[in-house]
Amino acid sequence: MSYEAEARRKARELADAERVRILALETSCDETAAAVIENGRKILSNVVFSQIDLHELYGGVVPEIASRAHMEACDRVIDEALEKAGMALAEVDALAVTKGPGLVGALLTGVNCMKGIAFATGKPLVGVNHIEGHVSANYLCSPWLEPPFLCLVVSGGHSHLVQVEDYGKTRTIGQTRDDAAGEAFDKAARVLGLPYPGGPRIDALAEEGDPEAYRLPKPKTEGRYDYSFSGLKTAFLNLCHGMESRGEKLKKADLAASFRAAVCQELTEKAERMLRDRRESGEAPLAMAMAGGVSANRELRRRMKALCEKEKIPLAMPEIGLCTDNAAMIGSAAYYRLRQGETAGLGMNAEPALRL
Ligand code: KG4
Ligand code: ZN
Repeated sequence: MSYEAEARRKARELADAERVRILALETSCDETAAAVIENGRKILSNVVFSQIDLHELYGGVVPEIASRAHMEACDRVIDEALEKAGMALAEVDALAVTKGPGLVGALLTGVNCMKGIAFATGKPLVGVNHIEGHVSANYLCSPWLEPPFLCLVVSGGHSHLVQVEDYGKTRTIGQTRDDAAGEAFDKAARVLGLPYPGGPRIDALAEEGDPEAYRLPKPKTEGRYDYSFSGLKTAFLNLCHGMESRGEKLKKADLAASFRAAVCQELTEKAERMLRDRRESGEAPLAMAMAGGVSANRELRRRMKALCEKEKIPLAMPEIGLCTDNAAMIGSAAYYRLRQGETAGLGMNAEPALRL
């Protein structure tokens, strides 16, 4: 029997199996991560090997270094995930891997690794959209959450407001017209001389600063729910450079706090507008969720919590460790895709520009 025929047969058997355990791999950027997930909701193991040390020297991710490091780490990380789950590879029901978006070389490393394991074991393989993975991190932390719900997706490359209509099916309501929120945080952090990755550092520093110390311009967008961060970023860079050129010392905590407040204000304001519009037009209230690296931001979490309390709707937030890149979220997304009968053949390729 060909691999494809065998994998499809096994996938059909899994369609109504009581227990499905998926081994997932994530290599889209600078974390090599593997996890074993049961029924899309339960984490049996979750191993993340971060490459931050390798890229820190360059102030950002160097694609070639990332691909090579993934290649070296894949097997080890997978073995560790299986060991922590107390399972042998033979006991795993299906396999999952991030197919995009991300760095092409980094993605290819993971895709090829999992295709190899799929071919050798005959197990069904699911290719997962990384952003759908971020959204699915919520299923691991909020057992009550089921589609339909609304989600603020904020990562290094995305700032989206989406409606999750069903597992694996989203509709975009608003999105950034220029930079992503994570990108803006990283650039602002760089001007403050904070090391890569800047988002978490600026967040920590901001906790000690005055968010009202500096006034930054309010972003303007055409779309009612769209975002824009490039003007905010430029204004921040000009503010810092201006202070430096006048020989003033940068009050880094105040600057970080003011920038964080401006970004979070923009993110929550559009979410609030969307919720209010829905309520006023009589649409059924839906739960709200958050996804992506920037959803680890403390101020954003506080503001979203306050907003959802005010609107009286439940809020799902992944725990901090599941906001940034991991394979547990990929295993969760894959489970629902598999249940819908989706499997990838050995012809699956990396899709660096894959959209939600
Ligand atoms: O989702 P993610 O891990 O990778 C992508 O898919 O892009 O997001 C990474 C982004 C980076 O820009 C990082 O600086 C940002 O998330 N980030 C944060 C925080 N933690 C990570 N930004 C603000 N505050 C944080 N606490
Ligand atoms: Zn990510």
